Amino acid sequence: MKSVYMKTYGCQMNVYDSERMRDTLRTMGYGETEKPDNADLVIFNTCHIREHAAEKVYSELGRMRKFKADNPDMLVAVAGCVAQAEGDEILRRAKTVDLVFGPQSYHRLPELIAKRVETGVAQVETEFPAEEKFVVLEQQAGNRVLNRTISAFLTVQEGCDKFCTFCVVPYTRGAEFSREPDQILAEARRLVKAGVREVTLLGQNVNAYLGNGMTLARLIAKLSQIEGIERLRYTTSHPRDMDDALIEAHAGNLKLMPFLHLPVQSGSDRVLKAMNRGHRVDDYYEIVAKVRKARPDMALSSDFIVGFPGETEKDFEATLNLVERIGYASAYSFKYSPRPGTPASEHADQVPDDVAAARLARLQTLIYAQQTAFNQSCLGRTLPVLVEKKGRFDGQMVGRSPYLQPVHVSGSIADIGTIQNVRIEAIGTNSLSGHYAVVET
Ligand code: SAH
Ligand code: SF4
Ligand code: F3S
Repeated sequence: MKSVYMKTYGCQMNVYDSERMRDTLRTMGYGETEKPDNADLVIFNTCHIREHAAEKVYSELGRMRKFKADNPDMLVAVAGCVAQAEGDEILRRAKTVDLVFGPQSYHRLPELIAKRVETGVAQVETEFPAEEKFVVLEQQAGNRVLNRTISAFLTVQEGCDKFCTFCVVPYTRGAEFSREPDQILAEARRLVKAGVREVTLLGQNVNAYLGNGMTLARLIAKLSQIEGIERLRYTTSHPRDMDDALIEAHAGNLKLMPFLHLPVQSGSDRVLKAMNRGHRVDDYYEIVAKVRKARPDMALSSDFIVGFPGETEKDFEATLNLVERIGYASAYSFKYSPRPGTPASEHADQVPDDVAAARLARLQTLIYAQQTAFNQSCLGRTLPVLVEKKGRFDGQMVGRSPYLQPVHVSGSIADIGTIQNVRIEAIGTNSLSGHYAVVET
């Protein structure tokens, strides 16, 4: 049996893509290995969103040189957004690379491997091919039961037409595209057969989903009728596409979990405008108010960029103010990273690194305090936990709360894939713990 080593960077869409490459490789007779040393195939599924993410890949590629010296038949592949953005350039910078292919062409992996082996020449595929990637992937996976855990991702929408001035995604992932509802429903049923109980719908702008006239709200309603799916989530939403029907779904659909990742990036209207986000701070407050009215226990999360070109101390304070006012359960925050080809990278007024770093630290302190406060508010509550796997200790299980917090449960072993009521007795930095609760009826 041949072996493949895979390493995935970046967002959940890359995690999903890697999973689908694994499906294909399994039918080609590849087993997965945890180390690259002796692998027949090494795949880096890469991210181009910030400079740091992209550079990490090159250091990994450097590491492969010695493995390849010992094992000359090893094939090294760069997939994902760095592949899409840099194409041939990767071959010039890293001589160990045999295959380069982007997020829209990874279904061509079998052909690319064959061609590389046949010709001995490195293969680069960064087109957006005409054939439907998802249809080809489905054929490649064959009829076998998929290898998935209790919670799985399902990409329903790809690409982005929004062109925020800092972001490479519209260039690496291409234009917005929504998959056909029937195809998605079939994939969801297939996931259920593989034991999946929680499905997270993915898209760069998942709430812009419009497949054959069907909105995300309607797609969620359809998916929640599938027996075996106990929980549904979706990410990442854009404030501009947060429509009333989707908000209402949170009020009525008990399978739809009360956690919303709704990136705002900045709390300053001036910065939002320069970022081309297409909405104002007040629009965001209005959406959050509606969402909380529909689902009072909704936990919110966001992404923030600090040190965007031209950001002043006052703009940054407006971001802190927004965070204070919303109260997040968790959030990601990043220092602005100038990306090649994006308008913001050409802006004359770049914020000095030390200023941006200091702002990031202040923002992260606030976010951390909010996350701790949110976890603390769960103490003493009984939460329904979807049990996902065994924990590290005997008699311990690990699952997730409705609010996406990992929960360590002790007491007895519950069946993986079931939802159990857990009384929360302690909180850690990033997780909760407790015992199974006896619920009085
Ligand atoms: N489509 C999603 C975001 C995808 S990228 C949205 O619009 O919300 C994930 C996050 O990376 C973004 O929300 C942003 O906070 C961050 N990001 C994107 N480009 C960046 C850059 N050039 N520098 C720093 N952070 C960036
Ligand atoms: Fe990037 Fe903006 Fe598109 Fe999100 S909406 S992927 S931040 S361009
Ligand atoms: Fe990164 Fe591409 Fe996702 S750039 S964040 S892996 S869409």
